Amino acid sequence: MTTEIVRLAGAIGAEIRGLDLSRELSEYDRSLIQSAWMRHLVLVFRGQKLSDAALVRFSARFGELDTVPGWEPFSPEGYPQVLTVSNVIDGNRAIGVLGDGEAAWHTDMSYLDLPPTASLLHSHEVPESGGDTLFMNMYAALETLPADLRRAIDGRILNHDASHDSSGTLRGNHKPFADISEAPGARHPMIRIHPVTGRPALFLGRRLHAWIVGESVADSDALLDRLWAHCSSGDFVYRHRWAPGDLLMWDNRCTMHRREPFDPAARRVMHRTQVKGFEPVVAARAA
Ligand code: SIN
Repeated sequence: MTTEIVRLAGAIGAEIRGLDLSRELSEYDRSLIQSAWMRHLVLVFRGQKLSDAALVRFSARFGELDTVPGWEPFSPEGYPQVLTVSNVIDGNRAIGVLGDGEAAWHTDMSYLDLPPTASLLHSHEVPESGGDTLFMNMYAALETLPADLRRAIDGRILNHDASHDSSGTLRGNHKPFADISEAPGARHPMIRIHPVTGRPALFLGRRLHAWIVGESVADSDALLDRLWAHCSSGDFVYRHRWAPGDLLMWDNRCTMHRREPFDPAARRVMHRTQVKGFEPVVAARAA
């Protein structure tokens, strides 16, 4: 079958057709996927039927796999590298994380010192409507920043809160705090260099409880609000409408994503893996 790469939105996303990911991937196909991925940031493969073993095998071709601290009970038995993302309650036990609400714009686990390089998400069951996932190109978000805003964040460090998930829920092993400059988490450059493409990207993680190190909370909030307003007004987003059997892979070093809410009575079951990351690299400052 011929392999085709089809662009999905002007600024981000491509679909790769003609590959069956349940089969052993040749080195040629792996390189093809890798280069398309670096170019398009988010890749979509439709009509896949991947067991957890096949999902792990495919994901591991792109790096060592990671687990999500605190979410270990939500892995299918025997597959600690797979996380179930689902609203389904089995008896009185949730089978997965993130429920049916909105997961606000974020980059996966940016609150770790070594945030994951990539995430892969495979859909098993999806609702008839709602639950779309949107992806933002953070190279483009940076390139289109007004010059004064870019100057204001050049060389700055952001504290990424570890205590809340992207639905805003306090994680079980954390305590609430009153002052966001005390949020536990990791500190990363606001402009980072992608180690493969060499391109600088805006790195925001998530809005809730973020703090620009060294600023007053009020000044940090004002700057972050301007940055987020810029991101949400930009034309660099791909919206994915899920069908069962989709496999998406995205690069966390240069994208953010957001999951829309859906009908709590509907079932949505997805299996996710993630590739271990490295310390984000600080971009060179403007002269
Ligand atoms: C996630 O944020 O990793 C989950 C995205 C989704 O459920 O579509």
